Amino acid sequence: MKRHLLEADDLDRADATLVLDTAAQIESALSGREVKKLPTLRGRTVVNLFYEDSTRTRISFELAAKRLSADVINFSAKGSSVSKGESLKDTALTLEAMGSDAIVIRHGASGAPHQLASWVRGSVVNAGDGTHEHPTQALLDAYTIRRRLGRLEGVRVAVVGDVLHSRVARSNVRLLHTLGAEVTLVAPPTLLPVGVGSWPAEVSYDLDAVLPKADVVMMLRVQAERMNASFFPSAREYSRRYGLDARRMAVLGDEAIVMHPGPMNRGMEIAAEVADSVRSTIVEQVGNGVSVRMAVLYLLLGGAPS
Ligand code: NCD
Repeated sequence: MKRHLLEADDLDRADATLVLDTAAQIESALSGREVKKLPTLRGRTVVNLFYEDSTRTRISFELAAKRLSADVINFSAKGSSVSKGESLKDTALTLEAMGSDAIVIRHGASGAPHQLASWVRGSVVNAGDGTHEHPTQALLDAYTIRRRLGRLEGVRVAVVGDVLHSRVARSNVRLLHTLGAEVTLVAPPTLLPVGVGSWPAEVSYDLDAVLPKADVVMMLRVQAERMNASFFPSAREYSRRYGLDARRMAVLGDEAIVMHPGPMNRGMEIAAEVADSVRSTIVEQVGNGVSVRMAVLYLLLGGAPS
C-alpha cells in the first residue's frame, strides 16, 4: 500500500483486494460483540477535514477511526479560521503540529488532497475532491458487490446518470476495472465528460438496452449544485429517460442489485419504490462504508505508532 489514498489508481489489484479482505475480517471480528471497538489505533490521531458538506462519509470516517480507538478530530471549514481566509496549507500544517497522523479530507477543489499530501508527513485520505475522485466510496461499493454477488471478476456494472459531475463514477470505473468488473456508463451525452472514450468503460445513451444485461445498476445523483447550465430539458424528461423506476427494475435479472451512493433525489434518478426494494443495497452500502474505512485507516496507519 502507498502512504496515501488519493485516487482509485493508487490501489493495484492486490492492494484493493487486501482492503476488501481486511474489511471483511474486521467485520467478522466485531460481529456479535457488545463493544464494537478494536485497540489497533490507540494513541494515533485522525483528523477529518471537511470543506464540503457531507452526512454519510463524514460520520462513517469518524465512526471508523473511533472503532479503531484513534483520537478523532472533526474539523469543518464552517466556524473555523478558514472563514478568516486561512489557506489549506496553513490549516494542514497547524493540524500536523498538533500531532495528527492521518488527515481525511473532503474539498470542493479537484486535486486538493494531492496538494495536501505534498505538505504533510502523515497519511492523506481523499474523502471526495470536487468532481475528481472518491476512492473509499468505490471501495465500499466494490465490497458491497462482492458480498452480494460473491465476486467482482466479470460482473457487469451499469453506472447511470450524472457521470460528468460524479467523483463516485470516476473512482468506481477505475477500481472496478482494476478488480476485473465490466463497467458501462449510461448517461445523456451532455452529462458525459470530454475524454470519456479513454476510460476503461463502455458508453451507452440507452438505459433500457443496458438494464437486462446488468448484474449491478449504480444510480448517480443529479448534482444540481455543480451545474451552471442546463444539461437536460426538465427533471421530468430526465427521469423518463434515465430514472430507475419499478417498470425498469422489472427487466433486471433475478440476482441483480441496485446501488446509490446517497444522497438520493427520490423521484428523480431513482423512484422511492426502487430505493426501498429488496434489490436495493443503499442502506447496506452505508454500513459497509464503516468497515471499509476502518480497513483503510488500519492499513495506512499500520497499527503500531511509528
Ligand atoms: C457522494 C459524494 O459526495 O461524492 N456521496 C457520498 O459520498 N456518499 C455522491 C453525491 O454527492 O452524489
